[in-house]
Amino acid sequence: MTPILQTQKLRVEYRSRELRQGTKIALHGLDLEVCAGEVFGFLGPNGAGKTTTMNVLLGFVPPTSGSASLFGIDVRQPISRQRIGYLPELTYYYKFLTAEELLRFYGKIFGLTRAEMDKRIPELLKLVELEHAANRPIKSYSKGMQQRAGLAQALINNPDLLVLDEPTSGLDPLGRMKVREIIQRLKNDGKTVFFSSHELGEVESVCDRVAIVHQGELKAVGSVSEVTGRHTSLEKAFLEIIGFQSSPTL
Ligand SMILES: Nc1ncnc2c1ncn2[C@@H]1O[C@H](COP(=O)(O)OP(=O)(O)OP(=O)(O)O)[C@@H](O)[C@H]1O
Ligand SMILES: [Mg+2]
Repeated sequence: MTPILQTQKLRVEYRSRELRQGTKIALHGLDLEVCAGEVFGFLGPNGAGKTTTMNVLLGFVPPTSGSASLFGIDVRQPISRQRIGYLPELTYYYKFLTAEELLRFYGKIFGLTRAEMDKRIPELLKLVELEHAANRPIKSYSKGMQQRAGLAQALINNPDLLVLDEPTSGLDPLGRMKVREIIQRLKNDGKTVFFSSHELGEVESVCDRVAIVHQGELKAVGSVSEVTGRHTSLEKAFLEIIGFQSSPTL
């Protein structure tokens, strides 16, 4: 299968005045491939380089060397992002907007016609279970509802590939389950989902394949059972892969 998301020897160095030591290498030659129709979990401890990878794909951060492509087109060309939807790690929406207004705002950015929006927005509000709150300002939403509004926003252009940076972060078990169900429905509709997460249990239940990055390097990739290997859970495999030695009493 041809990958629709690919990074090759991707290296990212941050240079900024705030960094006293000068340069921070966030990615050390990352090779990653995600194929059409996959739900792909991108795992790694805090600071591993997950958001940096996504920021390269989104065109926010330039590769220092190596390359990244979407649908076979280099990410330096904005057209590579025409068929993707993106949920950032931190969402900053105008909180005075309602979910409906937020979706119209993004619909306009993507050039949807009024008729297209009239059809698509109610479908999305239903998918993310926000029909009942569609006309309330986002500032009155719970975190789970805000996250689902963000997911609807990421889907406004009917993308083929979703890039979701920690879509379940900070959500309660019910909120996480709802997001998981949405990811499952997107997969059933033939979409590809590339998402980062620290919730290894949910990753086990929803992902076709996972990758583990640590200190900017790919440490493992494969199906959940391949990466879990001889361990009793993905979490145990994860801890060993990132070099954590548990104390014998744990
Ligand atoms: N703008 C920046 N300037 C300097 N260093 C940065 C910048 N953004 C990220 N970094 C550094 O790059 C490394 C990778 O960060 P990144 O945000 O990609 O990690 P992450 O895997 O998304 O972590 P988390 O799970 O906490 O979200 C970290 O060491 C971080 O401090
Ligand atoms: Mg991150």
